Amino acid sequence: MADQWSSSPDVHLGWSPGEGRTGLADAIRTAIRDGRWRPGAPVPSTRALAHDLGIARGTVTRVYTDLAAEGYLLISQGAPTRVATAVARPQPPPRRPPGTPESRWTLRPGRPDLSTFPRDAWSSATRRVLQRAPADLFGYSEPYGTLALREALARYLGRSRGVLADPGRILICAGFTHAISVLSHALLDLGSRELAFEDPSMWMFRDIVAAAGQLVVGVPVDDDGLQVSKVDSPAVMVTPAHHYPLGVTMAPSRRTALVKSGTMIIEDDYDGEFRFDRQQVGALQALAPERVVYAGTASKTLAPALRLSWLVLPQSLIDPVFAAFSASGARPSAVDQLILAELLESGAYDQHVRRCRTEYRRRRDQVVAALPDHLAVQGISAGLQLVVRLPCEDEVLAEARRRSLDLETLGPHWIDQGEREGGIIVGYGAPAKHAFSGTLATLVEVLAAVT
Ligand SMILES: Cc1ncc(COP(=O)(O)O)c(C=O)c1O
Repeated sequence: MADQWSSSPDVHLGWSPGEGRTGLADAIRTAIRDGRWRPGAPVPSTRALAHDLGIARGTVTRVYTDLAAEGYLLISQGAPTRVATAVARPQPPPRRPPGTPESRWTLRPGRPDLSTFPRDAWSSATRRVLQRAPADLFGYSEPYGTLALREALARYLGRSRGVLADPGRILICAGFTHAISVLSHALLDLGSRELAFEDPSMWMFRDIVAAAGQLVVGVPVDDDGLQVSKVDSPAVMVTPAHHYPLGVTMAPSRRTALVKSGTMIIEDDYDGEFRFDRQQVGALQALAPERVVYAGTASKTLAPALRLSWLVLPQSLIDPVFAAFSASGARPSAVDQLILAELLESGAYDQHVRRCRTEYRRRRDQVVAALPDHLAVQGISAGLQLVVRLPCEDEVLAEARRRSLDLETLGPHWIDQGEREGGIIVGYGAPAKHAFSGTLATLVEVLAAVT
């Protein structure tokens, strides 16, 4: 089997042992995308590939498992592992009224620990950028994002999230909030008037999309993510790596079915860097770069105040989206873009993300350990928030207010209010490090008082 496989010129992977497990996964992704490993064809057995490459069989098994999770391979019990058939070739909660005092404790979801902002790295990067920047930097810059940031992101997204990103397809926006508005207008200009959202999903983005003139429809989510068979809209917004707010991950079969469905997909990869129990599942975008708009943001990894996010666009959407972006009138600061590019290229960004990942993982574990046994935590070990299911969310919210704890419930996130289940979203990323244990203790008191 090994000889038969290795003697075929079609399966040459161009991989050397020095490139390790990540390099092997990349080589196989490339072989699949290039069509050298054909859709539907059986792949070499783990034993044969390990033998041929001179590496441990376990290494190959782990690579295959990861690639199956990303939708590249189909692993079935008792049958040969195959290349998936859908892989494409490259081509609201109330606002605090003004004047109301801040709560003492916060577990508001969607926020990183602002005290971790890498001030020193940002300052040194600023100095380096200003020392070498031409005076032109302070003028009206390249409209769709500085080339330096688009190039740095193309490299970063490829290596960290498996995104197929060409700088020419990247658009820098003022946060995902801006990006989703721009996309809604662009789709409308193309005659696409209905955008499906996961139910539940972030209410604020639905409001923005609806304000742009799109009809918003809900598609239910279960433990395997979006129920893809129920999507019947020309476009859909998804959070496949870590569903917001339920925290589940989209099952490989659903990922494959979604990219095959013909709908235009907006992939909100808002916290893809933060997976704790295993290596992150790569972005959906790489499965079908012509069907998926990939969206990322600096709001979770660095700070929401930067208002920096990015879209990687299918070729067919570049002109309409760039036109809608120009019409939106907003442009993120070119100076901040260059500083972010400098952080990405110097390795300081990765270092910061690694540090935050360790901290958020520790916090998540502490929350899970502190919760009473009868309360179930939903979702995978990832991100900056988790959901605790309980029927009495309004009572919990009221008790939290009494104890000066800022918390959010699932309530406003449901589209079909008839289907809603109770729960709270615990944003363990938000507290400053020194306040975390006090915040957690307050949460435990709130839950004990109500449940
Ligand atoms: C699900 C989700 N996606 C994306 C974002 C990022 O939005 P922005 O880039 O506008 O800060 C958030 C922020 O809270 C979010 O909750």
